[in-house]
Amino acid sequence: MAHRVLVTGSAGQIGAELVPHLRGLYGSDSVVAAIHRSPGGQSLRDGPLVTLDTGDQAAVSAALKEHRIDTVYHLAALLSATGEKDPQLAWTVNMDGLRNVLEASRTNGVSRVFWPSSIGAFGPDAPRTDAPQNVPLNPTTMYGVTKVAGELLCNYYHGKYGLDVRCLRYPGLISNVTPPGGGTTDYAVEIFYEAIRTGAYTCFLREDTILPMMYMPDALKATVQLMEAPGSKVPRHLGYNLAAFSFSAGELAAAISKRVHGFKVSYSPDSRQKIADSWPQSIDDTEARRDWGWKPDYDLGGMVADMLAKLGPRLRAEGKGV
Ligand code: SER
Repeated sequence: MAHRVLVTGSAGQIGAELVPHLRGLYGSDSVVAAIHRSPGGQSLRDGPLVTLDTGDQAAVSAALKEHRIDTVYHLAALLSATGEKDPQLAWTVNMDGLRNVLEASRTNGVSRVFWPSSIGAFGPDAPRTDAPQNVPLNPTTMYGVTKVAGELLCNYYHGKYGLDVRCLRYPGLISNVTPPGGGTTDYAVEIFYEAIRTGAYTCFLREDTILPMMYMPDALKATVQLMEAPGSKVPRHLGYNLAAFSFSAGELAAAISKRVHGFKVSYSPDSRQKIADSWPQSIDDTEARRDWGWKPDYDLGGMVADMLAKLGPRLRAEGKGV
């Protein structure tokens, strides 16, 4: 059956790449990109583009009806560091938005919904390494609180109404298309831009800070794989742990230095350090691998090589390379 897809948060870090990816799979006209405040890049204009405030349930409902949507990827959200600056706004955007999308989806016959959870769902009491799938989730950030409550809400909509909601706990995502904004793992993207632009970077986390990370092509692959898996392979409607690799800020700097000679990194931890310290260093994703066949393609070396190969020529063409 042909899909009719709506992606909220299309101008965001994941949406900006998921929209073209889904259009490549299902056809440009079948994937409606929804934006709110940010206009997003040119590629969103290769197919239907709407302005939508997920805080407005009637507007979400109208968009689902008008475009006869059967599948929703609800990505509009605030990230962790922004959430700590304005916890009220984080709750409103992340929770009201999700409730509105779930409610509008169930009342408009949407058959499948994707929602991103995160490593931010874990708290300092979770095991630091190989954080298991099933462990008490006691996050200490508002972002994490919205991720845990959001997972529960998705699971509730599945149990109560049979809505097929599927969730992944993404690690920090690294991409060369749209920079993230307001996250704790953002350093792992910024460092590439600064390596190419100026040859120097001041990292806002300590050198020994280890976090779980993933290259965006793997995140897109996991998302589509989960969403296309038959229901029998997706028994879990809370977030699936998802992993690719982990590294410290110092290890990433060293991997980039091998390819960008003379690259200088210094460390000046700010308030985001506390957030990073509350998250696990690595994640056990055995259930995702077992249930729907998850397996990443990129390791740290492969990601670094590809990031520099893609970003280097682009930034230099813009006159921004050293
Ligand atoms: N990348 C997110 C953040 O740093 C974590 O999911 O907020």
